[in-house]
Amino acid sequence: VRPIGSTGEDVDPLTALANLPTRDGRPGVRIVMIQSLDGVVAVDGGSRGLGGPGDMEVYLANRSLADVVLVGAETVRTERYGPARLTPALIEARIHRGQPPLPPIAVVSRSLELDADAPFFTEARARPIVITTTDADRDGVARLDPVADVITAGDDRVDLSRALDELGRRGARHVVCEGGPTLNGAMMRAGLVDEICLTVSPVLVGEGPRLVAGLDGPTDVTVHAAHEHGGFAVLVLRPSNGANPDA
Ligand SMILES: NC(=O)c1ccc[n+]([C@@H]2O[C@H](COP(=O)([O-])OP(=O)(O)OC[C@H]3O[C@@H](n4cnc5c(N)ncnc54)[C@H](OP(=O)(O)O)[C@@H]3O)[C@@H](O)[C@H]2O)c1
Repeated sequence: VRPIGSTGEDVDPLTALANLPTRDGRPGVRIVMIQSLDGVVAVDGGSRGLGGPGDMEVYLANRSLADVVLVGAETVRTERYGPARLTPALIEARIHRGQPPLPPIAVVSRSLELDADAPFFTEARARPIVITTTDADRDGVARLDPVADVITAGDDRVDLSRALDELGRRGARHVVCEGGPTLNGAMMRAGLVDEICLTVSPVLVGEGPRLVAGLDGPTDVTVHAAHEHGGFAVLVLRPSNGANPDA
């Protein structure tokens, strides 16, 4: 990774992206997403068509920094999420920082339509977390309870602020949110997004879902850093209503 326009040496994404946002009273939140040049985040229902080796390094570096990875249930379903896996070097770096080898993945879901027999749950080395509502289907809770920590926040929809508080109580200081757009929108509307690490893929794909769904209105964002890695632009952006460590 090197700053855009520089001719400096390539730097490890882990170093360039290491400073996750921090926040008093709750974990800091960085959204990590990839989009096409024309702003689309899914091709044929998934994000894989947008990525490549350079993007994968950025994605894994971000994931490796997290105390908890947060994700919407539809992304787990459509992208067939597996358990968190990292390279030996990234696991080593986590242990060196005093973190467990792998971060737990926390899925936000009201419906609890999640397959308890999927490798996401059965092969996870860090016990997954399911964040749901108090009115969630009791059978769904009973099905997932043996394979995940099921926590509730909110009655008919997940109160994401309370959910973050609970993750904080469990020791998380840094949460990396891997989307998708619906969860991103809910997080943005609640003022819970401190940073967005946006990889821009050098491809135009036409119509499709966008980074954030259902914004109330325009939100100012400042560019905190801009890098290039493996042919992808990597922008670190700070929404005006999130934490602003430099303010
Ligand atoms: N390009 C990228 O980097 C990237 C990253 C991630 C995803 N994606 C793409 O984005 C698409 C999926 O995104 P999406 O917007 O459809 O879905 P999503 O944000 O992944 O998940 C939405 C689901 O999360 C749960 N949820 C979110 N907020 C909630 C709340 N406040 N209370 C209760 N439940 C809540 C609900 O689950 P239940 O339905 O279970 O109740 C909801 O249906 C896929 O095509 C995926 O490939 C792209």
